[in-house]
Amino acid sequence: MFHEGMQVQCRRVATPINPYAVCSFPFPRKVCGLPVRRGRLWSKTHTWLTLSVHQNRLIAGTVNALPSFVNRSELHSERSDAGEVQSLRTAHYNATLTMVKEVHDDLRIMRVVTDRRFPPFQPGQYVALGLGDWEPRVAGVDEERRDPQKQARLIKRAYSISCSLFNPSGNLVRVADFPYLEFYVSLVRHSERRPPALTPRLFALRERDRLFVESHAAGSYTLESVQDNDNVLFLATRTGEAPHNAMIAELLARSHRGQIASAVSVRYQKDAGYHIAHLALARRYPNYKYLIFTTREPENLDPSHPRFCGKRFLQDLVASGELEQHTSIPLDPTRTQVFLCGNPAMIGIEMGGSIVPAGMVDELSLRGFRLDEPHLRGNIHTEHYW
Ligand SMILES: Cc1cc2nc3c(=O)[nH]c(=O)nc-3n(C[C@H](O)[C@H](O)[C@H](O)COP(=O)(O)OP(=O)(O)OC[C@H]3O[C@@H](n4cnc5c(N)ncnc54)[C@H](O)[C@@H]3O)c2cc1C
Ligand SMILES: NC(=O)c1ccc[n+]([C@@H]2O[C@H](COP(=O)([O-])OP(=O)(O)OC[C@H]3O[C@@H](n4cnc5c(N)ncnc54)[C@H](OP(=O)(O)O)[C@@H]3O)[C@@H](O)[C@H]2O)c1
Repeated sequence: MFHEGMQVQCRRVATPINPYAVCSFPFPRKVCGLPVRRGRLWSKTHTWLTLSVHQNRLIAGTVNALPSFVNRSELHSERSDAGEVQSLRTAHYNATLTMVKEVHDDLRIMRVVTDRRFPPFQPGQYVALGLGDWEPRVAGVDEERRDPQKQARLIKRAYSISCSLFNPSGNLVRVADFPYLEFYVSLVRHSERRPPALTPRLFALRERDRLFVESHAAGSYTLESVQDNDNVLFLATRTGEAPHNAMIAELLARSHRGQIASAVSVRYQKDAGYHIAHLALARRYPNYKYLIFTTREPENLDPSHPRFCGKRFLQDLVASGELEQHTSIPLDPTRTQVFLCGNPAMIGIEMGGSIVPAGMVDELSLRGFRLDEPHLRGNIHTEHYW
């Protein structure tokens, strides 16, 4: 543990300070003008620092003359720090990450098993995941300002419960029948409002690591208002397809009679993490279609590309009639339920609930669709992620 007056040596040329003095958590962004990154102080010269410590936490430091002798036992040891982290994890965490599928560096599918049986939930619902402020963050994301008062806090965010769709034998399985909870998560590297807190930590997790899962699922983004003969259109941006996977598995498993289509808007083709499973579903179920629309591939951005088509925003495809053609689902509000999930700009609802022009809600309202209201179900259902 750090203690008042502790001395640490910074080595030369941007190497971490010696391993006995790792400032693992929590730490300020700079000590004596030296950056603290990935839990270590970085220095281009030999520097000796006396650390200022408050309640066992590193707060700041002052630069010293090089001492002739340093007692290593006075320096912070990784082992004692690991011990404190371990006890925080034991106190707060109640679940284990059992599988990670890296779709790519910024996108992963994660399977989690809770210590206690997770209570029943509806397809489409979400649950909060959490990790401690003390956990490491991946590199290449907005830096956080560390608040010494919040060093032992748990950071929690909502995540829709996704669905693997098939079991290892290739059979379609309802979401609640899998022996784990599945999540489909984007790494947020940069945000205008505040540095992302949880995803940089979720992406540092490895299989068998522990985390927090809220005790029950929540949310009203479910199939409650869908009748057996309704056509159902699921429209999402990237990880917004997570709850749709669970709902689609449910509808197909209960032999839904109406047409079902899922369309996902992604920057790049590689962002479609469930593509293969959906194509297999579409082959097996004639009333199901799956469509991917990209926005940043060369054919979206380069007018000289032979297949140039511009950005393919979902609401533009509704406006042009292209989505109806591709899905074969007529946009008839008497027979169709529409689910919108993900980026609020696609959905077209601001924080606080007001409808903004040029979003999907605006476009569908022109065609006679009605948004859900608190005590009145409509045929547009929404889940916006921020
Ligand atoms: C009901 C609900 C369900 C959610 N389900 C999922 C899910 O299944 N998968 C998932 O990846 N996220 C989901 N989110 C978003 C999630 O809760 C976090 O906000 C997100 O993972 C970022 O967390 P953060 O702490 O890193 O950054 P935050 O501080 O929470 O967010 C910083 C900023 O990142 C942007 N942002 C947030 N989420 C996303 C995202 N998914 N894609 C692109 N940009 C984003 C926004 O601009 C936001 O202001 C859901 C949110 C809600 C409300
Ligand atoms: N996808 C990547 O390869 C990538 C790479 C590095 C970092 N990230 C980070 O990952 C996080 C999530 O990115 P994301 O791509 O999953 O989510 P996103 O930004 O919500 O984008 C998902 C899809 O929604 C589209 N979209 C954006 N605004 C829209 C609007 N007004 N109407 C309709 N559609 C709209 C996007 O098109 P646009 O092309 O217009 O955005 C994209 O196709 C972000 O923090 C991002 O910085 C992503």
